[in-house]
Amino acid sequence: MFAKTLLAAASVAAVMLAAPLAHAETTKASGTLKSDAPGAVINKYVYGQFSEHLGAGVYPGIWVGEDSPIPNTRGIRNDVVAALKDLHVPLIRWPGGCFADEYHWRDGIGPRDQRPSRKNNWWGGSPEPNTFGTHEFFDFVEQIDSEAYVSINVGSSNPTEMREWIEYLTSPGDDTLAQERRKNGRDKPFKVPVIGIGNESWGCGGAMTPDYYANEYRRFQEFFHKNSDNSAIRVASGANSFDTNWTDVVMKVVGNRRMDAISLHYYTLPTGDWGKKGASINFSQQEWVDTFAQTLRMDELLQKHIAVMDKHDPEKKVGLYVDEWGTWYDVEPGTNPGHLYQLNTLRDGVVAAANFNIFHKYPDRVRMTAIAQTVNVLQAMVLTDGDKLALTPTYHAFKMYVPFQDATMIPLDVQAPAYTLGGKTIPSFNASAAKAKDGHVYIGIANMNPVDGLNLTIDLGALKAKGVSGQVLTAPKMDSLNRPGAKPEVVPVDYKGGKVTGSTLTLDIPSKSVVVVRLD
Ligand code: AHR
Repeated sequence: MFAKTLLAAASVAAVMLAAPLAHAETTKASGTLKSDAPGAVINKYVYGQFSEHLGAGVYPGIWVGEDSPIPNTRGIRNDVVAALKDLHVPLIRWPGGCFADEYHWRDGIGPRDQRPSRKNNWWGGSPEPNTFGTHEFFDFVEQIDSEAYVSINVGSSNPTEMREWIEYLTSPGDDTLAQERRKNGRDKPFKVPVIGIGNESWGCGGAMTPDYYANEYRRFQEFFHKNSDNSAIRVASGANSFDTNWTDVVMKVVGNRRMDAISLHYYTLPTGDWGKKGASINFSQQEWVDTFAQTLRMDELLQKHIAVMDKHDPEKKVGLYVDEWGTWYDVEPGTNPGHLYQLNTLRDGVVAAANFNIFHKYPDRVRMTAIAQTVNVLQAMVLTDGDKLALTPTYHAFKMYVPFQDATMIPLDVQAPAYTLGGKTIPSFNASAAKAKDGHVYIGIANMNPVDGLNLTIDLGALKAKGVSGQVLTAPKMDSLNRPGAKPEVVPVDYKGGKVTGSTLTLDIPSKSVVVVRLD
């Protein structure tokens, strides 16, 4: 199988035929760091997570119960907590997803043995025992040192249920709902920094038109009572991928006073076809390229929605929250199709980094994202099997990018050679840079070229650096992976390929890899 590599640096139009995998070459590229023209702060919430009651995402991905032989703290598994704590998860969205618009919070409070069992209609019709409810979720959030993003049921409920849940969660007073929370074991109010008013209201959240939803949103938010007890960022349910009309109508009808953010959902399907999405392992080089062609559409997508938002909100008061994104493959053969269980390979780690580099381009608008999903569902951080746990390549990419949380974006202009296969062209890499809270400048690179290494030369301009260190995530195969109970195949190691000479940084980067370096 032959790949065609097109060197597309602005003035150079040299075309060379790339070799098959066995004869990898090194492509050259250059870039310029504009350290004297910093951008906005990359909100730490850009590294958010999403945990839905779906498949093994909560049971037993998070909750095993106090009597489980799997080590746990108050029913929440210790291995998952330790892994997520290390990831510095800034925000976690719960309880859905589609599940949220059928969820009634009263099902999940009070003595666990008295809670009702429901049918999880969206996800395989599986039983939902409600043992992981409000108090358990907030215990989990606090155990991982994170913050809560609570999704409110709009599609099959009413503003009263929302208002009562919010009062139960946040009231410091002596009102009956606050007393009920105390009776259930929690004296101090819970912190709820973000609420979502509806989810996919165009689909599983109620099949609404944008006008209808916008009016519903206005009605719900009127009973939300944003005040000092309860100052949560209000997120309106946003568009399905390229549906900019949804964003346009909601921005127009709701305006920038009644909402603080609007969401956007976009999933990466290698084929782009929901009927046959593509496999999570054993995929071809063509499927690798197709996956990146799909995932990189995130950039165009953000530009389009941001342009619509700028029209209605030039002051940029409203954030664009990509609160569901990630790869979505055909489920693992033999698993429940409604449980969305897929394996996670090196490809997923590189997809994550490529998306981070895109999010960093728009820090003044893209102030939060949540990858779908944290445990055992879609592009997960961790996969569990009994008492075994695997940290996925996606997990490692998230961890390598931790310094970008709350860092100040620095523009990095790169001329990326294009990589073409079977008529699909992608840039062979993308990159981003930021000055972190520790004072160092970090650069993250996703080398999407499955064949060739990259020799990247960056003009550091005014930035003075003496050395460079970092980590690299790569593996022998495109679908090398980490499975629970097996030796991990994809693990970050110290990066030794960087050199600073005067004001020039040179990086030698392997094919199909993620590299994050710190300038010293
Ligand atoms: O993440 C899985 C599902 O994808 C969510 O429940 C829904 O919002 C989206 O369609």
